[in-house]
Amino acid sequence: MTNQKRRIMVTSALPYANGSLHLGHMVEFIQTDIFVRYQRLRGHELYYVGADDAHGTPIMLRAEKEGLSPAALIDKVRAEHQQDLAQFLISFDHFHSTHSEENRVLCADIYEKLQGNGYIFKKSVEQFYDPAKQMFLPDRYVKGQCPRCHAPDQYGDNCEVCSATYSPRDLIQPYSVLTGETPIVRESEHIFFDLPQFSDFLQNWLATAPVQESMRNKLGEWFKTGLSAWDISRDAPYWGFEIPGEPQKYFYVWLDAPVGYFASLKALFDQRGADIGPFLRPDGGTEMYHFIGKDIAYFHLLFWPAMLQGAGYRTPSGVFCHGFLTVDGQRMSKSRGTFIKASTYLRQLRPEYLRYYFANKLSARVEDIDLNLGDFKARINSDLVGKYVNLASRAFPFISKHFNGQLADRLDDDSLHQQILAKKELIAGHYENREYHLAMREIMALVDRANEYIDAHKPWLKIKEENNDVQAVCTVLINAFHQLTIYLQPVLPAIAAAVAELLNRPALAWADLERPLLGCAIKPYKALLQRIEDKDLDAILAATREDLARENAGTAPKPEVPLIGIDDFAKLDIRVARVLSCEKVEGSDKLLRFQLDVGELGTRQVFSGIQQFHRPEELQGQLVIYLANLTPRKMRFGVSEGMILSASNAETLQVLLGVGRAAAGMKVS
Ligand code: MSP
Ligand code: ZN
Repeated sequence: MTNQKRRIMVTSALPYANGSLHLGHMVEFIQTDIFVRYQRLRGHELYYVGADDAHGTPIMLRAEKEGLSPAALIDKVRAEHQQDLAQFLISFDHFHSTHSEENRVLCADIYEKLQGNGYIFKKSVEQFYDPAKQMFLPDRYVKGQCPRCHAPDQYGDNCEVCSATYSPRDLIQPYSVLTGETPIVRESEHIFFDLPQFSDFLQNWLATAPVQESMRNKLGEWFKTGLSAWDISRDAPYWGFEIPGEPQKYFYVWLDAPVGYFASLKALFDQRGADIGPFLRPDGGTEMYHFIGKDIAYFHLLFWPAMLQGAGYRTPSGVFCHGFLTVDGQRMSKSRGTFIKASTYLRQLRPEYLRYYFANKLSARVEDIDLNLGDFKARINSDLVGKYVNLASRAFPFISKHFNGQLADRLDDDSLHQQILAKKELIAGHYENREYHLAMREIMALVDRANEYIDAHKPWLKIKEENNDVQAVCTVLINAFHQLTIYLQPVLPAIAAAVAELLNRPALAWADLERPLLGCAIKPYKALLQRIEDKDLDAILAATREDLARENAGTAPKPEVPLIGIDDFAKLDIRVARVLSCEKVEGSDKLLRFQLDVGELGTRQVFSGIQQFHRPEELQGQLVIYLANLTPRKMRFGVSEGMILSASNAETLQVLLGVGRAAAGMKVS
């Protein structure tokens, strides 16, 4: 590893602006942020930029459903995303939007250069069109029977039952997901990017670019199947950028999305009056790294580098691909209640628990990562609270209480200090190579050494002796804790800041690993981290189920109602009754007292707790529906005989009125 100052731009994939961030997204943001914070700690010039991916059909339709303009929807979602990201301590230098002037200009520039260089052509395309909605239908918006296994309601691109892949035109009895209409086939001219011209370039680029071996193999397969030209235009109505010189045609969202990486950096550099040129030119002497999920590798490893190359821009220095988050070994699922939103987690727990947990699982390989809540709690409580924070809570208070807050002037025993220092390059290498789990393993092994040091010296016993060496012991421990916190800073930034504060340091620096803190004052200890309790996890799961229920309101399956037979119904003696009198019950703010004429059954008295919904005079003289054979109940104000029926929901109640020409005493059946 060189210590030369590097100029680096780092990105995380741009989340779609039509929904909340969930813990799956956080895997990627946390993975990127650890890398970024590590590089900054090493003193490199680094820009971590992101944005919301704000274009495309789903966002257009989502806005329509919410009764918002697309622009209003993406602003709302971006504000929410930025808040979640900030709370998870994701340290973006700038977070932008692909729906921005910077992006429009950059996309136009790239497109015009591709065109000038002969990589753009037009071709007529036949596509499904929804005549009712008057728009072309993306594959996911057409459903029908699978042409192979005849399973109903399969999407236009593949069958979830038999895994066949096909084109929407192959579906049997296709229908539009938007309107249910049978789509018609329409022809329209589309604009294509001629990817096959980049076949050689891509093979070479991939052979040398830092991408993971498994991704290189995956790409090898794609090359074998052969590259095809990429359709980069969509017809109006479409929410995106109009293509220069092509009225009513828009860039497909995946064309402008990655350009959003540059747009975000440009917005930042414009703010600072800096020149973005060196990050766009191939010879600018800068580096660009993308962190992405495995589902979007195709876009980042084929289309994106080819597009950049074709337009004379720089290409990525590395694309780092991660696997998916599973919860309890299964794909996150709304119906299983494991689709945990970032904001739901944050309402209960500090971000650093999850940052540490993911760091323990993240490697450079493209493997799925499992979140098991029991394991999560155990790991945090044992490693972070039980071992790491334990060091501080054991050592700091002795110094404050017995030694006037002063550390000793020298390290009596520097073996622990040296042991920790000795792992510097190893741990640095693990961060650099994104083998965070190995970094955590090394660091925790050192935390164990420090805890052994406590156990060997037992300051809580020694302090009772006169002329003890507790100040020396705690100075060794606090120095070890300082070093360990420097190592953990990329993962636990807020705790690192709190530790810097305790140590009276402006910030923690990598170079301080070698410089013991001696003869200086520390601040009184404040607890750094609490244990995770079961109730925290229960609250997250309960809130996740509520999120789901809220989202499903309206589309939810009808609640199950237990059935009864006709004889059960026949047991009810329901009658029409006339309200002879209705008045508020004195001494109650709920009850109304009714005298009812129930024909042959005579006069009945009923108390009903509906004062807040009806004024007595409204009901006077009205015909109501009355359950006559309910067992009478003795109340403080008299006996209530039967019940007046009403309609109600959670908010309101209405006595059932208006029984036409029925007369008091008639049976209801
Ligand atoms: N908008 C595109 C990316 C455009 S980049 C120019 C997109 N958005 S996304 O919101 O669906 O996903 C954003 C990132 O989160 C992607 O890298 C995706 O792989 C990642 N993840 C989404 N769900 C995930 C998990 N369950 N687990 C881990 N990562 C996941 O794709
Ligand atoms: Zn099928």
